[in-house]
Amino acid sequence: MDSHSKLRNYGIFRYFCNRFSYILEKRTTLNRNTVYKMLDINTIEKLDRIATPFYYYDMDLFRKTVNTAAELASKYRLKVHYAVKANVERRLLEYISGIGFGADCVSGNEVLHAHDCGFPAEKIVYAGVGKSDKEIYNALKLGIEAFNCESLQEIFVINEMAHIHKMKANVSVRINPDIDAHTHKYVTTGLYENKFGISQHEFDKLIDILQKCEHINFIGLHFHIGSQITRVDEVFALECKRVNEIVAYFERNGLKVQNINLGGGLGVDYDDPDGSAIPEFETWFRTIAENIERREDQTVHVEPGRSLVAQCATLISRVLFVKSGETKNFLIMDAGMNDLIRPALYGAYHKIENLSASQRTFYPTHQAYDIVGPVCESSDVWGAGRLLPLSVRGDLMAIRSTGAYGQVMASRYNMKDLAPSVFSDALDEAPQVVDYFE
Ligand SMILES: Cc1ncc(COP(=O)(O)O)c(C=O)c1O
Repeated sequence: MDSHSKLRNYGIFRYFCNRFSYILEKRTTLNRNTVYKMLDINTIEKLDRIATPFYYYDMDLFRKTVNTAAELASKYRLKVHYAVKANVERRLLEYISGIGFGADCVSGNEVLHAHDCGFPAEKIVYAGVGKSDKEIYNALKLGIEAFNCESLQEIFVINEMAHIHKMKANVSVRINPDIDAHTHKYVTTGLYENKFGISQHEFDKLIDILQKCEHINFIGLHFHIGSQITRVDEVFALECKRVNEIVAYFERNGLKVQNINLGGGLGVDYDDPDGSAIPEFETWFRTIAENIERREDQTVHVEPGRSLVAQCATLISRVLFVKSGETKNFLIMDAGMNDLIRPALYGAYHKIENLSASQRTFYPTHQAYDIVGPVCESSDVWGAGRLLPLSVRGDLMAIRSTGAYGQVMASRYNMKDLAPSVFSDALDEAPQVVDYFE
């Protein structure tokens, strides 16, 4: 057998493995708000033997989360594209592609990676305000499901390239609906002040261009108003209302809107990762189903990123030193902003637990600590004034809800090593702690 056929056969084998485990897992789908204890005593003992820092993936919780979303999407007749930017870990992508979701990508490399992890080209959509010629060319050649275009000029460029290469490109247009997602300003994307999408003042020009460009197929409209949305029913109902008006406007003007893509944005509970292990997919999807106006032949798409992967991962770190400052106590950890930049970048909150202290029989009263990383930046702070049980050098610490926008944004700043992935079903393969005092 040549290497190409071997690869193909391996792909088919992988697909059926994922499909099979999906069917098995389906029976154990969690209800929303089910309490799920990720870090029990047995797990903590095993994690304590592994060299820190590392991203710990609870694969049971991950699969249950994806399966819950899949079941509910089918109940409410929604098509799901996973927003790859949230986490590009191959094992996660292979599972997600195996259960039949598509991929939402925002760079040429994400498109290629998603394809490599089993997403068929015809289930990959490609958004992003700045696509380079090389990225457009590669995606065009691959035959992706659609370019989600974000400017008039981008539509011209794709039309021209498709013409030169004697192809036709599927195009969806990302609209900026000017809706406040009531979330952090850095993850708000649907206001006129944001760089994303095409705004109303260009609609007539846009419709004209779409009708004149012969080398593109207009297939639908795309929206994504922001991330970590917690006022779920209110915000998504408002989004649907605005989308209905915009879709109707395009159709009145002679463009058939086949796909309505509402983007991602469902928030997760960073305060209580065990208490709300599975995000509110039910509320999100029901709100859409109740508020979107669709004909039988129209498909409605969603693009969850964070909600599928955030809660299944924990950044595991260790206390290097405890330092008493003039006015506060510092816990200095071996994980820093190079491993997870969200707190330094957005002031994001992550729950932090001292796993070693939780196992000690002697459980002293809590103390306030500024929990910090080792990087030479004053913004390298995990949490200020956090109450924790008395903590000592060597304690194993958990920074919770780190599966989304964590590892993907890691850097080698200060020439630190990248924290590896450790999977709950392959703990024996993880690099073990080395004792340098022996
Ligand atoms: C176009 C698009 N779709 C989907 C998402 C996923 O959003 P979330 O992770 O909040 O679900 C993003 C994230 O920024 C995005 O830019």
